[in-house]
Amino acid sequence: MIDELKRIEEQARAELVAAADEASLEAWRVTWLGRKGRLTSVLRGLTDLPIEKRRRMGAAANSLKQALDSALALRQEQVQKERLAIIETGRLDVTLPGRTKRIGRLHPVTQTLRDVLAAFVSMGFSIVEGPEVESDYYNFEALRIGKDHPARDTMDTLYVDITHDGEYDVVMRTHTSPNQVRVMEKTRPPIRVVVPGRCYRNEATDPTHEWMQTQIELLAVDEGISLSDLKGTLYEFAKRIFGQERKVRFRCDYFPFVEPGAEMAIDCMICGGAGCRTCDGEGWIEVLGSGMVHPEILSNMGYDADRYTGFAAGLGIERICMLRYGIEDIRLFYANDLRFLKQF
Ligand code: DAH
Repeated sequence: MIDELKRIEEQARAELVAAADEASLEAWRVTWLGRKGRLTSVLRGLTDLPIEKRRRMGAAANSLKQALDSALALRQEQVQKERLAIIETGRLDVTLPGRTKRIGRLHPVTQTLRDVLAAFVSMGFSIVEGPEVESDYYNFEALRIGKDHPARDTMDTLYVDITHDGEYDVVMRTHTSPNQVRVMEKTRPPIRVVVPGRCYRNEATDPTHEWMQTQIELLAVDEGISLSDLKGTLYEFAKRIFGQERKVRFRCDYFPFVEPGAEMAIDCMICGGAGCRTCDGEGWIEVLGSGMVHPEILSNMGYDADRYTGFAAGLGIERICMLRYGIEDIRLFYANDLRFLKQF
């Protein structure tokens, strides 16, 4: 028995010297001195011994326990000191920066899209979506852009390789305007919707043209809607997205599906209207097309065009994003260059 205590002591002390941090010191304590530790089980075994032997062994085991307790305390102190010494002598450079995790972010176009949607939602519009692959009917015909209408030339269309009766009549939508028709077909006034989405055109790319762009279509139809509602709504949008002090200019423009049609421009936020590179010396920057929904379209939808009127607008989100941040080339958005994207 005495031999066993000796062996315990030797092995325990050897392992204690090897324990060099707090976790291994704690593991050592559990192994040797814990409730189920080696020494405790020796003490438990004493009950089977004759009384005389038990007394001697008990005393020896208890003094070993005390010895190991104080050896542990000593070693804990030592380990603590060693750690402080390492820090003080500079062997461990706590000033070395750790490895930072790279955090993702939203694409600048997505950020602008969400901000614009939020502006309209707070004015009472709901968000709906429509298909990116569209029929010729919704993309053109229903919007009064017939087969030989010159407006088709302004939208270099990507046709999908499907024919009906020998005609290619499925397209990648060139704008979000087909959703004016889709929404009116399915619902009755009052209507207030915004429709975000990707649009596609067969563009030769340059600093202001991409073959894919993001648009938001705006549509409100109700009794008594007038041009001043259109202006008020778009004016509020311009102030929220481009700043309180922006001036807004409406000018006549032509789009087959509205009457009258108007383009909206804001005074250039770079030069304040004096004329600069961003605004091409104009002082004004065009941001969207808009107008009063054509009465013929309202009638085609089965609405009483004497009773109901509506306004519509189409916004190019890349354009708005470029103006907001002073980005000079639209192609940067989809070039996937992290040096560009990280700035937003
Ligand atoms: N869809 C047109 C385009 O992409 C923009 C547009 C103009 C939309 C006038 C409208 C509108 O809703 O009223 O060129």
